[in-house]
Amino acid sequence: MKSLIDILDLTTAEIDELIQTACDIIEHPQKYSESCKGKKLATLFFEPSTRTRLSFEAAMYELGGNVIGFSEANSSSAAKGESVADTAQVISCYADIIAMRHPKEGAAYVAAQNASIPVINAGDGGHCHPTQTLTDLLTIYREKGRFENLTVGLCGDLKFGRTVHSLINALSRYSGIKIVLISPEELKLPSYVKKDILQKNHIPYEQTTDLQAALPQLDILYMTRVQRERFFNEEDYLRLKDSYILEPKKLQKAKSDLCIMHPLPRVNEISVAVDKDPRACYFKQVLYGKFIRMALILKLLEEAGK
Ligand code: NCD
Repeated sequence: MKSLIDILDLTTAEIDELIQTACDIIEHPQKYSESCKGKKLATLFFEPSTRTRLSFEAAMYELGGNVIGFSEANSSSAAKGESVADTAQVISCYADIIAMRHPKEGAAYVAAQNASIPVINAGDGGHCHPTQTLTDLLTIYREKGRFENLTVGLCGDLKFGRTVHSLINALSRYSGIKIVLISPEELKLPSYVKKDILQKNHIPYEQTTDLQAALPQLDILYMTRVQRERFFNEEDYLRLKDSYILEPKKLQKAKSDLCIMHPLPRVNEISVAVDKDPRACYFKQVLYGKFIRMALILKLLEEAGK
């Protein structure tokens, strides 16, 4: 694997290897502090991001490397009409590895086809977000110690939420997984994800609009925000944005070892009062995101012979 575009570009054995490296980095950060000395990561962000971009940058700095790049499309040559294919070729002359976010589905794939260095998809439109999924998997591993035999509730915008699509893809390869899809009617999981992933892999799943009724059976609750930027009209967004608000009282019947996750940014879907609950894992998840990106950068540079 030269680039990471989709989570399925990684075998489960490769995911295990990344998780073990991330765990070793957590235990012995010093060991890795010069691993990428003299190397450059280019962060090409054509769409806004705080966590993903900064976690890539922090990851590279903690490996002793350097970072170049841009954080908005209009501060790059895309504003002059440059294609993603050309940008990828140009950046290959300056950097050793690229992390790219783009509003169009497939953009990272096009970049990888044209770059001579590894490309990491940091989110392509509503399609997928493999490094968030690696973050989610590391969180699940650290909190639960396994990927098998888990009932995972995914709640919120299951239609546009790319992190949800990638996570379902990743979990579909483990045994004993059950998925509970919790969303308003209009934001249900796209039927292609249901058919091509859940049904094809015989993953048992339920669909409901009722978060509270679904909660008691869950080992993991993955909350998501309604993806305002992917709506065609503001009225629909305003009507749907507060469909689910997780509050302490709603958690009364949840398991005592429930793991509550969220890729962040949070809008209203988790009340800040839940932050103190020991089951809230979303800020730990942010930290895990940096460690797994360190492991990924190391692996891709090594494979590229850099
Ligand atoms: C997610 C994304 O960009 O899809 N954020 C992230 O990477 N942490 C989720 C979101 O924006 O809602």
